[in-house]
Amino acid sequence: MEARAVAVVAEFGKQLVNVMGRYEEVYEQAQRDPEAFWGAAAEDVFWYKKWDRVLDDSNVPFYQWYTGGLTNTCYNALDVHVEAGRGDQLALIHDSPVTDSVTRMTYRELRDRVAAFAGVLKAQGIGYGDRVVIYMPMVPEAAISMLACARIGAIHSVVFGGFAPRELATRIDDAKPKAIVSASAGIEGKRVIPYKPLLDEACELAEHKVERIIMLQRPQVEAPMQAGRDIDWHNALRGVEPAECVPVKATDPCYILYTSGTTGIPKGVVRATGGHIVALKWSMKNIYGVEPGEVYWAASDVGWVVGHSYIVYAPLFQGCTTVMFEGKPVGTPDAGAFWRVIADHGVVAMFTAPTAIRAIRKQDPNADLLAKYDLSKFRAQFLAGERCDPDTLKWCQEKLKVPVVDHWWQTETGWAIASNCLGIEELPVKAGSPTRSVPGWDVQILDPTGQQMKPNEVGAIMIKLPLPPGTLPTLWQNDERFVQSYLTDHEGYYKTGDAGFMDDDGYIYVMSRTDDIINVAGHRLSTGGMEEVLAAHPDVAECAVIGVADALKGQVPLGFVVLKDGAVKSEADVVKDLVDMVREKIGPVAAFKQATVVKRLPKTRSGKILRGTMQKIADSQTYRMPATIDDPEILPEIEQALQTIGYAQKK
Ligand code: COA
Ligand code: AMP
Repeated sequence: MEARAVAVVAEFGKQLVNVMGRYEEVYEQAQRDPEAFWGAAAEDVFWYKKWDRVLDDSNVPFYQWYTGGLTNTCYNALDVHVEAGRGDQLALIHDSPVTDSVTRMTYRELRDRVAAFAGVLKAQGIGYGDRVVIYMPMVPEAAISMLACARIGAIHSVVFGGFAPRELATRIDDAKPKAIVSASAGIEGKRVIPYKPLLDEACELAEHKVERIIMLQRPQVEAPMQAGRDIDWHNALRGVEPAECVPVKATDPCYILYTSGTTGIPKGVVRATGGHIVALKWSMKNIYGVEPGEVYWAASDVGWVVGHSYIVYAPLFQGCTTVMFEGKPVGTPDAGAFWRVIADHGVVAMFTAPTAIRAIRKQDPNADLLAKYDLSKFRAQFLAGERCDPDTLKWCQEKLKVPVVDHWWQTETGWAIASNCLGIEELPVKAGSPTRSVPGWDVQILDPTGQQMKPNEVGAIMIKLPLPPGTLPTLWQNDERFVQSYLTDHEGYYKTGDAGFMDDDGYIYVMSRTDDIINVAGHRLSTGGMEEVLAAHPDVAECAVIGVADALKGQVPLGFVVLKDGAVKSEADVVKDLVDMVREKIGPVAAFKQATVVKRLPKTRSGKILRGTMQKIADSQTYRMPATIDDPEILPEIEQALQTIGYAQKK
């Protein structure tokens, strides 16, 4: 190009930047040429062999990123930093108020411990493509196990500790692991929860038989061991040969993470290796604004996607120090715990769920405990997992005096769909909105016919395919369910399952789910799964579970049951049974504490239960009488039943 033409283009570019702003410029780049954009981002990670194609669209709708590339997740998380001179920098700080301990590990130490445990897995015959279930509390060994699997090309599937044996068994049967790695106990506040009886029960329930269980014995509880199957973590490490990183395909699964679907059978979200490394590393700088060497903390659990992405993988890909916190926002020992951790470890950015902030605020409304700590290094507070109510956002902004970023994503996406991208350009905040689409995401609000809604009109939140790297390529060994669950509503779009709108400035507002998923204390649960449990009670003829508003947890489940004629037990006894059954079958994390007996359930003429209307009544919202209702007389009965248990109060 002629010099004059170059100058004109450069000048035009400058003007464009001025008009568009940095965020818009980056967003446009990613939209215009996703391959160039994500190809450039991929240059920032280590590859044994680079990709043949950045985006492979040869088998639509199964898009794949970086086909032909060879890499390793663990190498990118650990070895690469040791080799680049970060060996003596802290990689992981385990802060555990429940055991009154803090453990620090440098990148070199963590790499060596991971290599040693990878050697243990190898010695047990576990290798490339084998699955390993990890059922552990928030101990460093959970992260070590995950990274060790990745090191040898095995696929991990971490199961959250708050799930009951039946849920664990379902996951074992789907993932068919060769081994399970677990610990003898988790500590929930002041309660010690022995894990092994739960694990043994799950193994009994599961049809798939696991060859090996590797148990980390914690001092709080000694787990009983089954000879021939169970081995002790520390004994297994003795004399073991450390394992090196194995090159794997960019498209190989790094992990499977089960999440609630619309039935009791969870969905096995698959995370492909290459895209995962690229997207998460990119996100640390561009979304969170965090540099290598800085301390980053996600106060979540390794059992959730936030734990996978932002306790273990992203901070390590970026060469940060990650904090793993074995405690709660309150009660360990007080509502100042989060501020104490930020101050003690020099955290620059942290990530938690709004529910945790509500719990802190409830106990320390004026944030008096904040004054005890030096938060001078702290630059940003990130919130996700559920809708952030404007009150909570405002409280955080006022008390912390740093940017508070509500960002929206899901287990399936693995990283944020919408966020204020602090590393690109800090945009003005609008309370109730997770800001705008992150570069790489084409979010659209569609009506039932697939037409785009006008600004400010509520519709289904969809994402135009292809999804960016790091997102789910499919569900574990279930392409059909993947397509059915996410891709069939409108061709060429991914269904998020969320409903909401976009305002005139492109800010996204995520209002509710379009399915039966509810969000309890930032935990995603299926009311359909709970209904399956209630329906199994011998005295229950019919049932429905809805999520009702809760000041602390955002939502909590509430059950409605119709008893069979001639039911044996009293209403009170049935309700008690139901509460116990959900705890036993799904787990304490479901927080199912209330159910009410009604004579009948409101339905449409075609027999569909009107759960949405029931929810509105329970939450004392105005509702329209559904045109398709079978018998309008039922709604006052429902309202009355709800009032007797404290819901549906007139404002
Ligand atoms: N193992 C065993 N049981 C567990 C568990 C685990 N890993 N995690 C939770 N549970 C149990 C709890 O002990 C509780 O049992 P209970 O009914 O006997 O009291 C139940 O499951 C519900 O737990 P939880 O949702 O944590 O509620 P809580 O009342 O104990 O605490 C909060 C409330 C708000 C403090 C807590 O939910 C919280 O910290 N939430 C933040 C969630 C989060 O970070 N999510 C990740 C997305 S970013
Ligand atoms: P999970 O897969 O457990 O991360 O849950 C994902 C779901 O949580 C999303 O589909 C939303 O319904 C909800 N969610 C997560 N983050 C937000 C947010 N910032 N605002 C509104 N809803 C959110």
